[in-house]
Amino acid sequence: MKYPSRVKLVDVGPRDGLQNEKGQVPAAVKIELVHRLQDAGLKEIEVTSFVSPKWVPQMADNAEVMAGIQRRPDVRYSVLVPNLKGLEAALSAPREHWPDEIVVFAAASEAFSQRNINCSIAESIERFAPVVEQARAQSIYVRGAISVAVGCPYQGEVAPEAVGEVARLMKAIGVQHAGVADTVGMGTPVKVQRAMEATLKHYDLADVSGHFHDTYGQALANTVACLEMGVWQYDSSSAGLGGCPYAKGATGNVATEDVVYLLHGMGIETGIDLDKLIDAGVFISNFLGRKPQSRAATALLNKRAA
Ligand code: HMG
Ligand code: MG
Repeated sequence: MKYPSRVKLVDVGPRDGLQNEKGQVPAAVKIELVHRLQDAGLKEIEVTSFVSPKWVPQMADNAEVMAGIQRRPDVRYSVLVPNLKGLEAALSAPREHWPDEIVVFAAASEAFSQRNINCSIAESIERFAPVVEQARAQSIYVRGAISVAVGCPYQGEVAPEAVGEVARLMKAIGVQHAGVADTVGMGTPVKVQRAMEATLKHYDLADVSGHFHDTYGQALANTVACLEMGVWQYDSSSAGLGGCPYAKGATGNVATEDVVYLLHGMGIETGIDLDKLIDAGVFISNFLGRKPQSRAATALLNKRAA
């Protein structure tokens, strides 16, 4: 078995994680989290989203957070954008505060599409087309997320063909990268491989990633299943923050600490300093008043304490 020798992790905690917190996290805390993640060696961070504040008030401080981060030239900063209004808001700031990358998100089930973005899959693609065009015209990279790719909280099973169809539609409108997202964390390795294979019919290996929530404790297994296919890009969330407000019961993304421990143990490089990453997870978890949701962080913190 030949695994990739290096993996790129995108920490989505500041966005996917903090969008799901009941209390409002101050912009200064979000900014500090981004700084700690880049200090730990993360080369891409999903900072915030430019969605409707009525739908997700937790991200209403998006412009303040984007303006407050001290950027590094070798780090890519991405934001989630659901429509043209979101892109216009992200680009209404001075250019130095623009995202390097936007993430558009469509679902592989009609039911989830309606609940999450209030429109059908076809309407969402239609809505994204001008967003993609305008972002690319400004040299902003466009990543796509295919939600509920291995199971939907409203519909149940999702066929790989449905995932392939969303990938095809995304490719047709110029989305440059496709992330296979297990929004609810109900996927298991073979199902995840089928969803990834369906996506790889339309995207090259260099342009796909896995985004696995860990609700059922399957995210690391799903990661290894995709590593076996050569997939070398994954989203994860420090301290296991996360969840989608429109996928009730879904817990956070797989913890970045756990993925880093897994990868380093397999001899796969990430460029990430696990100790500093654990400290970043402790910082945000302390703020939220709980322990990091990462088995590796918990074990290593116990070891430190001893
Ligand atoms: P809608 O209500 O159908 O939108 O929502 P609308 O176009 O009819 O507009 C309604 C109001 O919202 C208007 O304001 C708009 O101006 C405003 P009003 O006239 O009533 O005062 N509005 C906006 N305001 C700020 N920014 C915007 C924006 N757009 C409209 N961008 C919409 C449709 C898509 C906007 C809404 O459903 C929405 O924001 N949904 C986002 C939901 C969300 O953020 N979900 C979580 C992120 S996705 C996720 O976590 C999955 C992922 O992690 C991968 C995975 O795990 O699956 C990526
Ligand atoms: Mg997610």
